[in-house]
Amino acid sequence: MKKYTTIILVGIILVLAAVLTGTLVFLKNQPPQERAIAPIVEIQPLEPDSSKWGVNFPNQWSTLQKTETNNLDTTYGGSSKFSHLVRDPRQVILFTGYPFSIEYNDDRGHANAVKDVNEIKRVDEKTPATCYSCKSSNNPGLWAEMGMEAYDAMLFSEMKPKIQNAIGCANCHEAGTLRLIVTNPALENALKAQGKDWKTFTRQEMRTVVCANCHVEYYFAGEKKFLTFPWEKGTRVENMIEYYDELGFKDWEYPETKTPALKAQHPEYEMYTAESTHFKAGVACADCHMPYIREGAAKFSTHDVHSPLLNPEQACGQCHTDVKYVTGRVAEIQDQVYKTKIATEDALVDAIAALKLATANPASDAALLDEARQLHRKAQFMWDFVSAENSMGFHNPEYILKILADSTNLARQAQMKASQAAGDPALLAVGLYDAMDPKPEPAK
Ligand code: HEC
Ligand code: HEC
Ligand code: HEC
Ligand code: HEC
Repeated sequence: MKKYTTIILVGIILVLAAVLTGTLVFLKNQPPQERAIAPIVEIQPLEPDSSKWGVNFPNQWSTLQKTETNNLDTTYGGSSKFSHLVRDPRQVILFTGYPFSIEYNDDRGHANAVKDVNEIKRVDEKTPATCYSCKSSNNPGLWAEMGMEAYDAMLFSEMKPKIQNAIGCANCHEAGTLRLIVTNPALENALKAQGKDWKTFTRQEMRTVVCANCHVEYYFAGEKKFLTFPWEKGTRVENMIEYYDELGFKDWEYPETKTPALKAQHPEYEMYTAESTHFKAGVACADCHMPYIREGAAKFSTHDVHSPLLNPEQACGQCHTDVKYVTGRVAEIQDQVYKTKIATEDALVDAIAALKLATANPASDAALLDEARQLHRKAQFMWDFVSAENSMGFHNPEYILKILADSTNLARQAQMKASQAAGDPALLAVGLYDAMDPKPEPAK
């Protein structure tokens, strides 16, 4: 009897100890209590000038300013604007006929957004003002004043004088309450199309959704270049292809193959929320990219947003005890995704080469050729959905590897169909990129 009492007592003590440890860990990981906000200066609604908000919130402002000079790189990301075309010349071929084949640089810190878009060679006299939509804290004010339709109908060059501030407080916060808000009407519309109302979202949900103001796939709908997120059928890549197919939308026609091609933008939000391990565990973008930091007596969310691999102790260490192990996992995942992505690019380049020859051959079967183009269109968009997503696979490794496998398969099918269309088995030769000498170079 005594033996059992001891076992039960020890059991109870262990359970209590576990509960206590759990509670302490939970409490330690809680964000700081919301401070009552006592403004030193009153911030006007939609105030585009972040330095004015900075008077009341110097820590958030000073860390946001750091994003301007960040320049450290990681293996696949980081804050310098290295050229994707120089690093991976296959992309010059994949974007032929589209401005991305001219200049395509890696993303850098938020404070550079206006400077970088103003300098990029992709902009020409026909570029719509819509391109400023995710670059500036002037936007919420301009959208409120003139409406997004009128904004998007303007030219980039006409809008330029009004865009003076890079991404800032007004892109993410409501003045006064400082709560996180949806500021981009295109996001509001896209959520509405899915029957969702962000005003009912929890604070933790908003710590992800606020990034979806910009870090998403989008397109310019119609003559008026109306900024639209293609989310009506869902936010997975296959849902978007279905959406674009139904609409008969293309970003450009690939020269020589005549493929109605699609360009993916930076779908970090869609990729991450496609049931990734971290998303399912309730982790938000801000947990990794804007962790709480301590400076003197203050504890606040760093607004120095960049690769978490540059500050893993802060970014991952709040939840993972073995930071070395998890960053090691990132390296393994990214290397695997990178290799797989290059294999997909090789398949796409081969498909393009075969399609070019089949298209140039007047004897080719038109219907089969068209099937080959549709396969190329799908394969290329799926590849780009991974390639243009900036985490090199980390945000959702399983899903991303599946997309790449499907894309490679579709690209090889496109190549086969092109060969069938032309009745020419020679078009099935693979390894065209490797045989290419010299390799293509980005335009100077
Ligand atoms: C669990 C942590 C985690 C979460 C959550 C997370 N990320 Fe990331 N993110 C990373 C890591 C790790 C990288 C890879 C950085 C690298 O390669 O240097 C990354 C890369 C990025 C990059 C490219 C950074 C660069 O250096 O170029 C962007 C942009 C980004 N994430 C945005 C987001 C957005 C938006 C969300 C939410 C939808 C999100 N992330 C959620 C960890 C996270
Ligand atoms: C890219 C979006 C974004 C921008 C730009 C931004 N913030 Fe934040 N801010 C956040 C997120 C996300 C949080 C975390 C909110 C939460 O946990 O509820 C936050 C939190 C805060 C908080 C609450 C305290 C804290 O640090 O967690 C204050 C105050 C704040 N921001 C002020 C500012 C000011 C001032 C600016 C401009 C200088 C600014 N923010 C720019 C996204 C942004
Ligand atoms: C108003 C639009 C907007 C919002 C909101 C926004 N971003 Fe960005 N983000 C951008 C743009 C544009 C860039 C690229 C700027 C450049 O290259 O000049 C960028 C760059 C980044 C980078 C790369 C920084 C580097 O140094 O390489 C990361 C990481 C990132 N954003 C994460 C986030 C996260 C996390 C959120 C939400 C908390 C968020 N962003 C909200 C527009 C936005
Ligand atoms: C807010 C908490 C939180 C943060 C911050 C966080 N993680 Fe996690 N991470 C989790 C949780 C929860 C899991 C899921 C654990 C499980 O289900 O076993 C996880 C799982 C993982 C896994 C295993 C995933 C898999 O499918 O095998 C890796 C790798 C990982 N995290 C890396 C990172 C890295 C790198 C960072 C920083 C850039 C980071 N995490 C930041 C909470 C977090």
